[in-house]
Amino acid sequence: MTSPSSFAQAERLFSGRIGTDYDILELICPMAAELSRRVGAVVAGLPSSPEGRLAVLEIGCGTGVTTRALLEGRAGLEVIAIDNEPTMLEQAQGNLSDDLGSGRVRLVEADALSALRDLPSASADVVASAYTIHNFLDDYRTLVLAEIFRVLRPGGSFVNGDRYALDDALEQTRLTQAEAKRYMEVLLALGRTDLLEPWILHLFSDASPERVMRLGPARELLRAIGFDRVEVLFRESFDTVLTAVRPAS
Ligand SMILES: C[S@@+](CC[C@H](N)C(=O)[O-])C[C@H]1O[C@@H](n2cnc3c(N)ncnc32)[C@H](O)[C@@H]1O
Repeated sequence: MTSPSSFAQAERLFSGRIGTDYDILELICPMAAELSRRVGAVVAGLPSSPEGRLAVLEIGCGTGVTTRALLEGRAGLEVIAIDNEPTMLEQAQGNLSDDLGSGRVRLVEADALSALRDLPSASADVVASAYTIHNFLDDYRTLVLAEIFRVLRPGGSFVNGDRYALDDALEQTRLTQAEAKRYMEVLLALGRTDLLEPWILHLFSDASPERVMRLGPARELLRAIGFDRVEVLFRESFDTVLTAVRPAS
């Protein structure tokens, strides 16, 4: 049997056609952009540091959709945006050129766990993410979440807009099948049969036992790590906005 720690590694699931043609997501999964907007709005409503700044660390910025929602949410917000896929970061560079120029955002090519381990404890007001953490293998995800806790200042928030699988396995299968059907309908209508295989395989990967992120166990894990006020602010099908706070003392 494979030892659990052998799973604790970063992968690069967005290096192929999924990454180069990532914009197609807004057509096959219209909720993705909405979830990014919601993450931006939640972060915009969080209290600033005493100096009026909000230091945000974004895990898995991709092409910058959620980064933009964060930056547009409020003044005084600065983002360090991490991603381990050069194809995605290249697109983010173009999409965020104004904010890169002003220094409000810094893009870092690194895997989430390595980047977090390089950061000092209590150095971020907020850790935000969208559609990324569900991609991680279980053991890697657990280590990342513990690092997020360490890097947040006491009182700081973790805001995750992500695909949390249903605790009801039958309903989970039904929704996954409905999603696969939608991907096929949209991609066939667009004549993008080249994207069918990678996206359908990606759905299988999301649902695989070594990585599926079910909502109930995910909330328990955050509490076990030490997070407080683990709350679901939005949930529609898999799409969820979850927040958790590192206790103030
Ligand atoms: C589905 S995309 C989401 C992108 C963006 N957050 C958004 O809302 O559009 C997931 C992103 O996470 C990145 N990613 C996956 N695993 C990662 C890891 N271990 N470390 C850093 N980034 C990772 C991928 O390269 C990809 O850009």
